Amino acid sequence: MKNQLFSWFNNQIPIHMLQKIDEIRERAKSAAIESIEELEQYRLQFLSKKGVLNQLFADFKNVALDDKKSVGQSINDLKTFLQERFDERKLALEQVSDSSTKTDLTRPSTSLPWGTRHPISLVRKEINDIFGRMGYVIADGPEIEDDWHVFSALNFAEEHPARDMQDTFFIQQKPDILLRTHTSSIQVRTMENQKPPIRVICPGRVFRNEAISARAHCIFHQIEGLYIDKDVSFADMKQTLLVFAREMFGEKTEIRLRPSFFPFTEPSAEMDVSCSICGGKGCNVCKYSGWLEIMGCGMVDPNVLKEVNIDPEVYTGFAFGMGVERIAMLKYQIKDLRLYFENDLRFLEQFSKQV
Ligand code: PHE
Repeated sequence: MKNQLFSWFNNQIPIHMLQKIDEIRERAKSAAIESIEELEQYRLQFLSKKGVLNQLFADFKNVALDDKKSVGQSINDLKTFLQERFDERKLALEQVSDSSTKTDLTRPSTSLPWGTRHPISLVRKEINDIFGRMGYVIADGPEIEDDWHVFSALNFAEEHPARDMQDTFFIQQKPDILLRTHTSSIQVRTMENQKPPIRVICPGRVFRNEAISARAHCIFHQIEGLYIDKDVSFADMKQTLLVFAREMFGEKTEIRLRPSFFPFTEPSAEMDVSCSICGGKGCNVCKYSGWLEIMGCGMVDPNVLKEVNIDPEVYTGFAFGMGVERIAMLKYQIKDLRLYFENDLRFLEQFSKQV
């Protein structure tokens, strides 16, 4: 009986032990160790004095001599596995808790220097706002245009010098595709797509083939305006532009209109404002004339209205156009146009307090 029992013991224990070892390994593998508490649970269950590993070592005493080697090996492998898993999870959890304790969410962030608005943007916004208050809406259009929108629809004669290669950057000829030389092209597009009353301002970049100097650049910005309705008169234009001039340069500003010529307006005028620097007395900015030229304007030529199918017998309108660089030069007394394009921080930072 004793012998029998012993042989049973001999045969069963190793199989039983090996199974148990496998089971323990599986359990240890799938045990969740996502927190310090779970890590401690794991340690207590598998690695502590009262844990399953020690229990296995205790049982090991009863394993038959012949099987001691293989069972012992398996227990040792399990021990290594259990310890490695513990160490690896411990390290990972420590790293997580380390970085979370190091992050102080209340710490003020490193301050980055504020960018500044470009003077051209500031002045463009100011002009847009002034006309916005008078009921004008902003219209937009492409910088790459065809001849019709830039010249033909605006009553430019076929041989007009502005179409010449010297003024216009052509991209393609026949049909002519070019960089717009003024934002009047946007006005044409608006009149094509909209019935009067029309009241728009058209800000945008324009391009002219000019040598770059302190007073000229091949890229600059314009804001043009257009108002078309029944009974729009020259007096309406004059009053609108006076309001603009006073909002832009101060209430004491006076305006003066001098006869001029543009193919798309008749009559046409150049508008001057009284010099805001010397108040009209004469200084080096206004070249001692007391006046500063700021824009072209005039009543929309009936030929232009006909081109876009607006009846000139029913509707009239006025248009005006100014260079944003020029207005900004006067406002901030900037002497050299090239400063606008150089992005020199010493220049740009002077506008940091403007919003
Ligand atoms: N388009 C003209 C220019 O670029 C400006 C202008 C616009 C003049 C509207 C009169 C009327 O110089």
